[in-house]
Amino acid sequence: MQQKSMFRDWRLLYSIPLCNTAMNTPHDSVKYRSLENRSVLITGGASGIGASLVEAFVAQGSRVSFLDVDVPAGTELSARTGATFMNCDLLDIAALRAAIRAVEAAQQGIAVLVNNAGKDDRQEFKSIEPEAWRRLLALNLDHQFFASQAVSAGMAAQAGGSIIMMGSVSWMRGRPGMAGYTTAKSAINGLTRTLARELGPSGVRVNCIVPGAILTERQRKLWLTPELDAQFLELQSLKFRLTAQHVAKMALFLGSDESAGCTGANFMVDAGLTQN
Ligand SMILES: NC(=O)c1ccc[n+]([C@@H]2O[C@H](COP(=O)([O-])OP(=O)(O)OC[C@H]3O[C@@H](n4cnc5c(N)ncnc54)[C@H](O)[C@@H]3O)[C@@H](O)[C@H]2O)c1
Repeated sequence: MQQKSMFRDWRLLYSIPLCNTAMNTPHDSVKYRSLENRSVLITGGASGIGASLVEAFVAQGSRVSFLDVDVPAGTELSARTGATFMNCDLLDIAALRAAIRAVEAAQQGIAVLVNNAGKDDRQEFKSIEPEAWRRLLALNLDHQFFASQAVSAGMAAQAGGSIIMMGSVSWMRGRPGMAGYTTAKSAINGLTRTLARELGPSGVRVNCIVPGAILTERQRKLWLTPELDAQFLELQSLKFRLTAQHVAKMALFLGSDESAGCTGANFMVDAGLTQN
């Protein structure tokens, strides 16, 4: 408690911003030449972090397609950015495979895949049934595997590519009330490392972004309270709230040739949340 009030005092004293305005720079404040014209596919791209990923790669001059089930948001984002939106439910692996074939045909292959989609649905540990459990794993794990599998041959044929998985700090923190989600997200850690070994010889890199507490519409609407907000600030080393843009900037680096030496690794974007 004492720490909290000290922190409030500093903020008043030095006017430390709640949001790091230095990071609220345009998506093209850094230009990666290798991303110009690069073919990119993003899952769950219609809203939240995914929408920021779409905007960020478009701003780099990449050719971008994204998959989502949110048709109004996907249509709006496509009209605004010029990225191609495909209505695809990632729970349907056959539909996911077909969508990937279609993007490969339309964009002459896929060089960057961002496995972004996920859903941090909560559930009572005591009452979860097998069907709900499997659905949580399917929403947060299965499509990351099958999308990676589906793009791998095409990437190998064009002598390389970058697959970016989306993890979460939640399993590292052992957060209660979301066992399905944290189980899936911890599995992505192992999957990333195995796929990096599996695909490395063909020039395909596989890395994982591990976001901390990111302010998105869904988080604000469903979970965020002033108490939780203050708690994150207290636990983080950096005293501002992270936005989708912070995650997108890491994805640009991992999609570009500037990260050519990186594979099989977790890239934390958590403002130091897991340092504790
Ligand atoms: N926001 C955070 O604080 C946070 C923290 C850690 C990790 N993450 C991870 O980042 C990724 C993006 O999270 P977000 O906060 O932007 O989530 P979000 O809910 O705001 O957006 C997720 C998007 O995925 C889409 N989607 C969900 N299920 C789908 C399905 N079955 N088929 C197709 N599309 C589907 C949704 O329609 C939505 O557009 C997720 O993998 C999430 O686990 C987020």
